[in-house]
Amino acid sequence: MSKKLGLTAAGAVLALSLAACGGGGAGSGTSNNSDKSAQDLSIGVSMPTQTSERWIADGKAVKSQLEKEGYTVTLQYANDDIPTQSQQVDQMITQGADALIIAAIDGTALSSQLDAAAAANIPVISYDRLIRDNENVDFYVSFDNFAVGVAQANALLTGLGVKNDNAPDGTATGPFNVELFAGSLDDNNAHFFFDGAMSILQPLIDDGTLVIKSGETKIEQVATLRWQQETAQKRMEDLLTGSYNDGSLVNGVLSPYDGLSRGIITALQNAGYGPTTEGGAKPMPIVTGQDAEIASVKLIDDGVQSSTIFKDTRKLAEQAVIAAKAFLEGKTPEANDTKTYDNGKKVVPSFLLPVETVFKDDIQTVLVDSGYWTAEEVKAGQAK
Ligand code: BGC
Repeated sequence: MSKKLGLTAAGAVLALSLAACGGGGAGSGTSNNSDKSAQDLSIGVSMPTQTSERWIADGKAVKSQLEKEGYTVTLQYANDDIPTQSQQVDQMITQGADALIIAAIDGTALSSQLDAAAAANIPVISYDRLIRDNENVDFYVSFDNFAVGVAQANALLTGLGVKNDNAPDGTATGPFNVELFAGSLDDNNAHFFFDGAMSILQPLIDDGTLVIKSGETKIEQVATLRWQQETAQKRMEDLLTGSYNDGSLVNGVLSPYDGLSRGIITALQNAGYGPTTEGGAKPMPIVTGQDAEIASVKLIDDGVQSSTIFKDTRKLAEQAVIAAKAFLEGKTPEANDTKTYDNGKKVVPSFLLPVETVFKDDIQTVLVDSGYWTAEEVKAGQAK
């Protein structure tokens, strides 16, 4: 069911002239649909997994905001399984989707789907995770992912006392024992987060303020396939038995995502780390995070996890909807970054949103006052 079938001669001329203006990306047959109303248009939304709360929130927000605009939406989750996601996207294309919004599991695994989308003039918006190695990515909506890593590293240093608002260069001098974790290597974001964090941490590793006892400082050594909590827990357990069996203590852990942070915290608790007020001899290290997942927000409120990075998925969804709408109306969505995200084939025009660091004292102002979580949800550690 090619989109081209519906083209009128006038539409075709318009399409050509828009293409000549450089209006759309390689895959965007944007103007084909500009004479149709939203009710006649359907959008396929492909999300990676429902095991993480953030993607459930993203899916819901994108779907409801698109529906508010009048579009028909097919939303699918792929259980973190690459063939499932490929097959779901294939199906969206054959069923006549007019635009695609995709958060990829593996950024390099969707090339044949993107080629098929381009052949059918379906614009593709890469959602939060950049789709790589294919020129048919028309737009990218995400957060400033390098800034996420920088914020995580700064939150770690603030927690350790190496840095604070009044003394950006630090009061505590260490040395502090720190271990590093990264996300899934097939997710482009994992590299941005890690590079951002290391831009801050490396000088302090070099001058001895931070000591990585495991010696594992390369992203390949510290990565966590598919961002799995259990994998991070297991690695933390192995680090504790391998590098801290001489009585030394871990003081801080760079964790790039709340789910990993919870796995890391469980391993630490099982090894006797916890509140020193309860007689434990091993204080819980400073553990960072990302996504403001409710279970982690509660841990932060309880003083167990130190911080998280809040990325407002409602705003990201809004940008995805704005971009989809623009393409479907034959326009080009407005980018605020046209330099950073080279996917290996082209620099993808992007709209990047800012992020916020959340410590215990920020829960109310950043998460509750903005309506992201209610105070009750924070207390319960569960979404309603
Ligand atoms: C997202 C993060 C998320 C991670 C694991 C990344 O691509 O940007 O927000 O924590 O995936 O789901």
